[in-house]
Amino acid sequence: MHAAPQGRRFLACYISKIMRTEIVHPGAEKLRYEIRQIVAIGKQIQALGTTVVWENIGDPVAKGEQVPSWIKEIVQETAAENSSFGYSPTAGLDETRAYIAYERNLEGGIQITPDDILFFNGLGDGINKLYSNLHQNARVIGPNPAYPTHSSAEAAHADAPHITYKLDPERNWEPDLEDLERKVKENKNIAAIIIINPDNPTGFVYPQQTLAKIVNIAREYGLFVISDEIYSNLAYKDSGMKKLASVIDGVPGIAMRGISKEFPWPGARCGWMEFYNRDKDERFDAYARSIINSKMLEVCSTTLPQAVLPKVMKDDRYYPYLAERVKAYDEKSKHAVETLSKIPEVLINPARGAFYMTLVFRNGALKNTQKLGLSPEAEAVIAPFLEHASLDQRFAYYLLAAKGICVVPLSTGFNSDRSGFRFTLLEPDRTKFTALVGTLRDAVQEYLRS
Ligand SMILES: Cc1ncc(COP(=O)(O)O)c(C=O)c1O
Repeated sequence: MHAAPQGRRFLACYISKIMRTEIVHPGAEKLRYEIRQIVAIGKQIQALGTTVVWENIGDPVAKGEQVPSWIKEIVQETAAENSSFGYSPTAGLDETRAYIAYERNLEGGIQITPDDILFFNGLGDGINKLYSNLHQNARVIGPNPAYPTHSSAEAAHADAPHITYKLDPERNWEPDLEDLERKVKENKNIAAIIIINPDNPTGFVYPQQTLAKIVNIAREYGLFVISDEIYSNLAYKDSGMKKLASVIDGVPGIAMRGISKEFPWPGARCGWMEFYNRDKDERFDAYARSIINSKMLEVCSTTLPQAVLPKVMKDDRYYPYLAERVKAYDEKSKHAVETLSKIPEVLINPARGAFYMTLVFRNGALKNTQKLGLSPEAEAVIAPFLEHASLDQRFAYYLLAAKGICVVPLSTGFNSDRSGFRFTLLEPDRTKFTALVGTLRDAVQEYLRS
């Protein structure tokens, strides 16, 4: 029997017995979401009277982007229909899945039917089901830096560190395909390769040739490919964005999409999977069915956003609206590169899609003696966290405490072996965005020279 942990003894005298068996999943420690965890420190800084700029969260609505009134009107009209209050079929509303399949097939590439589509309560739910239904020995290799919902859920599912291939900041974030293939070859448990396209946190868009090579590796070693395409409609003009469907050919694959970032409507909790080539591999088909069955246990996903989806996407105003947003992100990304690339100790690549950018510190640039000037009160808030902080976490804490800018450190936030941080291109006010990037530049320089 386990001894009662220190500090719990008082409680222990009121409950007759402590847990007779271990109840914590072995992978529980692997679940980390620094993107939100840093908020606790930010709140303490805010309580000191500092205005905090929340650059940690990828929610366009929270950052002040206005959802167009015509989208709100469609939501209002749809919410007024009685059927929007009911359950929907487990896989999703028939007409919505028919629309998605129709739209997908128009783009060319693999052709799918509504039965190849499965809705979730946000893609976060889909990601959870993806890994929790995978055989415990089967591993998914993912990019480094990694989006933590994928890397944590994969690590927790296997109770082992997430296996990654490198996205190279020295080569505009192109994936190191030799590294990928070597790891796939060496580790027979790798069953799938995941890409995030456009990528979070780098803004990288996989060129078609690179995608085709990844599909070829999957074909050669008997793997399936997962492509998280939640940002696919936010790829910039001339980025060369291609969906997995266009290159997957006969290889089993899963594309993951959603409306959180596009509409943007993250509060709707609405995302979906598209299964490709279930008929080509019996085990892949059984795995896909297990995901559908696990969704069945929950009855269904949110109905209202599914009912809204085709009405918004079919509207003539939808794609021009997206083009306008994407143009603004592209311009802000170029401005950020222009400003931040002047610092010799950092690497910064323009985003080609989505609304994130990652600044990387060159190796050796960060030291655990560097600082930014702080008030004694702000110093007291971050002091307890500094002792065990990684070098980029240390920078992020100083930036938060000194300038009130909350960014996500690359090493702890995105499972990366490089130091750096992610910030967003979401600030809609250009003057404020320019000021933000200028403050970032000055803070990085001040910190590195301290
Ligand atoms: C790459 C990626 N996939 C999935 C998600 C989760 O999206 P959802 O709001 O649909 O759960 C996010 C959210 O930030 C994301 O960045």
